[in-house]
Amino acid sequence: MSRFFSALPVCGIALAGVVLCTPAAAQFAKPEDAIKYRKSAMYVQTTHLGRLFAMANGRVPFDAKLAVENAEMVAEMSKWQFSGFVAGSDKGNTDAKPEIWTEAAKFQDAVRKSQEDVIKLNTAAKVGTLEALKAAVGPVGQSCKACHDAFRKE
Ligand code: HEC
Repeated sequence: MSRFFSALPVCGIALAGVVLCTPAAAQFAKPEDAIKYRKSAMYVQTTHLGRLFAMANGRVPFDAKLAVENAEMVAEMSKWQFSGFVAGSDKGNTDAKPEIWTEAAKFQDAVRKSQEDVIKLNTAAKVGTLEALKAAVGPVGQSCKACHDAFRKE
C-alpha cells in the first residue's frame, strides 16, 4: 500500500478531518487522480441536478420517479466529491483556489451547507410533487454557487 499517495494523515492535520478524510481520500495514487476524481464527481452531479432544474423550470415534464433517482445521484456525489480535495492537490489541471486549504474551516462550512441542501432536495423529491421539487432546487443551486464564487477560479 505504500505506493499510494498518503493523503489521509496529511489531510487530517490540514483539514481537521471532517468530511474530506473519508476513506476515499486514501485511495488516490497521485494528486492528479484526486483532481480528476473531484471534477468528474462534480460533473456527474451537475448533470443530474440539471435534470431536476429542467423539471422545476418546466423545460421537461415532471416525473416523480425520475426526480427521486436524480436527487439520489446528486446526494451520492455530495457524499464523495469533497474527498477529492486532498492536501497537495492544489496545483495542476485544477481550478481549485489555494483558500480551500488555507481557509479550511470556511471551506468545510461550504461543504456542510451544500450537503444539507442536497439532503433536503432528496427529501423534497420523495414528496413526489413539482411544488416540493421547485422549492428545494433553488437553495442547492445557491450553495453550489456560493462555494464556487469563494473557492473556484473563474
Ligand atoms: C464546498 C465547495 C463546493 C461546493 C459546495 C460545490 N462545488 Fe463544484 N467545484 C468546487 C471547486 C473547488 C471546483 C474546482 C475543482 C477543480 O478544478 O479541481 C468545482 C468544480 C465544479 C465543476 C467543474 C468540474 C470540471 O470538470 O472542471 C462543476 C460542473 C461543479 N463544480 C458543479 C457543482 C455542483 C452542481 C454543485 C452543487 C450541487 C457543486 N459543484 C458544489 C467547489 C464546490
